[in-house]
Amino acid sequence: AGLGYPQLLTPPTSAGTLVRSGLRLPAPFQVPLSIPRVLEPVVRDADADRYEITARQAEAEILPGVRTPIWGYEGTFPGPTIESRRRRTTVVRHRNDLPVPTVVHLHGGRTPPESDGYPTDLVLPARGWRAGHHGMHDPDAVITQGSRDYTFPLEQRAALLWYHDHRMDFTGPAVYRGLAGLHIVRDDEEDALPLPRGDRELPLVITDRSFAADGTFSYPSLDRSLTRVPGVTEAYAAGVLGDVVLVNGAPWPVHEVSATRHRLRVLNASNARRYELALDPPPPAGAAFVQIGSDGGLLVAPREHRTITLAPAERYDVVVDFGAYPVGTEVTVVNLLGAGSTRDVMRFRVARAERDDTAIPPRLSEVEQLARGQAVVTRDFAFTSGRIGNRHGWLIGGRAFEIGHAAARPRLGDVEIWRFVTDLHHPVHLHLVNFQVLSRGGRPPGPLDGGLKDTVDLGPGEAVEVITRFDGYRGRYVFHCHNAEHEDMGMMATFETV
Ligand code: C2O
Ligand code: CU
Repeated sequence: AGLGYPQLLTPPTSAGTLVRSGLRLPAPFQVPLSIPRVLEPVVRDADADRYEITARQAEAEILPGVRTPIWGYEGTFPGPTIESRRRRTTVVRHRNDLPVPTVVHLHGGRTPPESDGYPTDLVLPARGWRAGHHGMHDPDAVITQGSRDYTFPLEQRAALLWYHDHRMDFTGPAVYRGLAGLHIVRDDEEDALPLPRGDRELPLVITDRSFAADGTFSYPSLDRSLTRVPGVTEAYAAGVLGDVVLVNGAPWPVHEVSATRHRLRVLNASNARRYELALDPPPPAGAAFVQIGSDGGLLVAPREHRTITLAPAERYDVVVDFGAYPVGTEVTVVNLLGAGSTRDVMRFRVARAERDDTAIPPRLSEVEQLARGQAVVTRDFAFTSGRIGNRHGWLIGGRAFEIGHAAARPRLGDVEIWRFVTDLHHPVHLHLVNFQVLSRGGRPPGPLDGGLKDTVDLGPGEAVEVITRFDGYRGRYVFHCHNAEHEDMGMMATFETV
């Protein structure tokens, strides 16, 4: 198989944290929060909304007064947001103006295999690459040059999805440089609820990055197509952590809100960092966060939390009632798992009173609960570290990712239980399906495990069982650890629906 590794350029320090040298960072809570722009379709025809997105090199002013080279969808980080209606086919022509191949995956999408972004289905750069010279040996790969049309039928519930690069062995460096954006699916069921909307609905894409003294992102790799520096260290193996927390691409931003309920649609798009978010001060009355949705859309009923923990790729849809605070309060979102510069996330300034007609209904949605007895098979997958040849790697069931080797062949329509065991923290993600958590550590699911999920965080030594029905499309998909560096270092496998 064509397994390779991201190559090291500068060695990381301990635990994967990179040290920045001599760059002026803004004080926290000075830079305004911005909301990624919603992209207009190029055409809305009878069958589909058609969009065009070009991945290209650009410069972004992430730190005030500093230019950072990025790879961005439409040249921005995060990329533009796409908004679709359930069952309205969305076709995105993704152009590749970058110097390296790309692969686009719609995370959380129920997508036919040819548009799901299998890691070898490359879009070669428009210029400077000859077809056939991409170093992959996959007879089933569908490789295009310059652009590719991805078709998303979106036969799925309203939910916050996101799109990001998914090229084999290079997802980490590509996403770190900026290749990620939101895709929101809406439907009538959700529209009928009296939830906060308009400027009281805020997508929050949380990432961490480190910057070098010249303002460039510090990522311990260069694409192997551009360099031949050998070696992978144990520190890299932990996953790449940054020391600057960005929300929607802005460092520790601040946002003014009215003293009303707001719907926060939080995505952890970091490569490897987990966050436990809390409000400081907590509201004088009521829960900090009322969770209304998960990765796969609305919960059956709201759940109250004091904190929410997000592993990479997880989404939480929560309502925060700023009406519980006196006008003038500054409410900081803190990360209880962080220290120093990664303790702060962002701040809300409760600026004015305003009328609030919103409510959180006690019943939000219907979700079919799958029962253990419906499963026709239980499969076991161990997520462990190990060696691949003479290098450190990450394995599923003792194997590193191998193109085309199916670790499971679920029959379409079957309900299955997948049991994951692990040595360390690994956020496990399945393409195509949403699942329900059946058990965690031999006990019932935890308070944050509710609803339909596509990514579940395994704690060290923890066994987690999930149950799902494999329906949708026939073909090959992947499941993997969503720590992007683990994914790139082998912790991915194929499943094929048959
Ligand atoms: Cu968010 Cu396979 O990915
Ligand atoms: Cu992992």
